[in-house]
Amino acid sequence: QEGLIIAIDGPAASGKGTLARRLAAHYGLNHFDTGLSYRAVAKALLDTGQPLDDAAAAEEAARALDFRTLDREALSAHSVGEAASSVAVIPGVRRALVEKQRTFAETPPGAVLDGRDIGTVVCPDADLKLYVTAKAEVRAERRWQEIVAAGGKADYATVLADVERRDARDMSRADSPLKPADDAHLLDTSEMDIETAFLAATRLIDEVLAKKKTI
Ligand code: C5P
Repeated sequence: QEGLIIAIDGPAASGKGTLARRLAAHYGLNHFDTGLSYRAVAKALLDTGQPLDDAAAAEEAARALDFRTLDREALSAHSVGEAASSVAVIPGVRRALVEKQRTFAETPPGAVLDGRDIGTVVCPDADLKLYVTAKAEVRAERRWQEIVAAGGKADYATVLADVERRDARDMSRADSPLKPADDAHLLDTSEMDIETAFLAATRLIDEVLAKKKTI
């Protein structure tokens, strides 16, 4: 593989999405928030009134998905995220999406991908793997702030319960559970702002780039 591939995994509201976007811009790489692809499959089922556990329909939607048409805004609802974690347990859905994600990762000049299984399944040979996490209370607080800032109403205890339920579902599924790859660098952002996390990540990536050049 010629391009640079950076794999970023972690639970909801860990800060991995913001970090991935900033790193991609800084290094001139493509960026893919893979959660959007699971969200799009879930939304396709919701829109047509099909149950989220209809594996055949979900697989079909995953195969038909065109990554170029993913619309972040249309997929941002909390309910779509919840539904996404239900369709994400279906092996056929994962197989179809992972194949497209790999093609994206291998497209020059390389990419930053963020999700739950990038370092473990999608890009096991990534140049650098980060596992970004934070305490559930801190992540729930961030999510709650986002909802309120966007003019929505939310109750902190409910947001925390949702975050914990989503973590449990993503970490306990049989196919590609959320967990750090053996060779991932852990980044706990509980007491770190985005700038500090960004600087820590660039230090690691710059080391990788320096090594790549000397090979
Ligand atoms: O990150 P986001 O909240 O958009 O992800 C929605 C859901 O999609 C996650 O809770 C997870 O179940 C699923 N997902 C996944 N693998 C990925 C990215 C997301 O299973 N690589």
